[in-house]
Amino acid sequence: TATTEIYTLSLHDALPIRMKRISLTQYLVEQQREHGHIPGQLRLLIEVVARACKRIAIAVNKGALGDVLGSAGSENVQGEVQKKLDVISNEVLIEANEWGGHLAGMASEEMDSIHVVPNRYPQGEYLLLYDPLDGSSNIDVNVSIGTIFSVLRKVGHARGVSEEDFLQPGKHQAAAGYCVYGPQTTLVLTVGSGVAMFTLDRETGSWVLTQDEVHIPEDTKEFAINMSNMRHWAPPVKRYIDECLQGKEGPRAKDFNMRWVASMVADVHRILTRGGIFLYPWDKREPDKPGKLRLMYEANPMAFIVEQAGGMATNGRQRILDVAPGKLHERVSVILGSKNEVARVTGYHAEAE
Ligand code: AHG
Ligand code: MN
Ligand code: MN
Repeated sequence: TATTEIYTLSLHDALPIRMKRISLTQYLVEQQREHGHIPGQLRLLIEVVARACKRIAIAVNKGALGDVLGSAGSENVQGEVQKKLDVISNEVLIEANEWGGHLAGMASEEMDSIHVVPNRYPQGEYLLLYDPLDGSSNIDVNVSIGTIFSVLRKVGHARGVSEEDFLQPGKHQAAAGYCVYGPQTTLVLTVGSGVAMFTLDRETGSWVLTQDEVHIPEDTKEFAINMSNMRHWAPPVKRYIDECLQGKEGPRAKDFNMRWVASMVADVHRILTRGGIFLYPWDKREPDKPGKLRLMYEANPMAFIVEQAGGMATNGRQRILDVAPGKLHERVSVILGSKNEVARVTGYHAEAE
């Protein structure tokens, strides 16, 4: 029909003008030329992780056809039931990264202790930490999920690697990123000079730069928090959300909207796209735990990305990237997103003390 023709025409016409296709490889090479901060090993690492994410995306997309849904019948070190995709994604990332000579070791939400690169492969200078499949409760219901990763440099000694080597504050990350498996498969990356987004072109199998210099608006009218935990929150968090809920008539004098996907990747991705604030704070349910989310492979990489996009990330008291980790699977309270809102909640914590 005429409509189809017009649509097809305009789509083809628009493409070359709208997008000069820049691949992930080209982006990394150009970044290295401009800033000199992506040495060969780091570039290989990022490309290998990106390739692993493609494999995970394929498994995710198979769904019920690929026997990837449901529980794996095991538990991880944090006592959470592992889904088949948690285990598959973890294995895909190990297999992809072991042999390249860019890594000394890996750590994952789904592994009790660190995975040292086997002796048969050369050891590299980087450490990779990841949440292979974030948003596990959303797998079986076909809602966006993702992979989160953080890259540290092994410092201090030449041979071997131990858990100690991983326990660096997030401000030392060399790179961080995540991949969202949603309506589109999107890879978001920072190497410390801003944030770039790449969309997976399923026809060519390549990652195409679709947004550079991502910027989170300083202000927002949208918050993300699991409201069912309200009665357990600490007073500063309760105060902040109460004020948002009062809308136009309250002290904030504007109406707020709420979103909660329950996949951190998807919630953070929305914030990078249109602003917002995300909170997974400490609460009274398990008072001895600082929070639910894990510092090393959830909070740190997301905090790095958010700061690189002009946002802010704290645990209510301290910049997340300054937190000195005591153990690999340490948890942390997380407040991140639009700068002015995160500063406000952090200020409420200071006032309460
Ligand atoms: P994971 O699936 O890797 O264990 O992480 C789930 C996390 C995070 O993605 C999300 O923000 C949060 O858990 C959701 O928690 P609630 O179910 O308590 O809302
Ligand atoms: Mn997670
Ligand atoms: Mn996970």
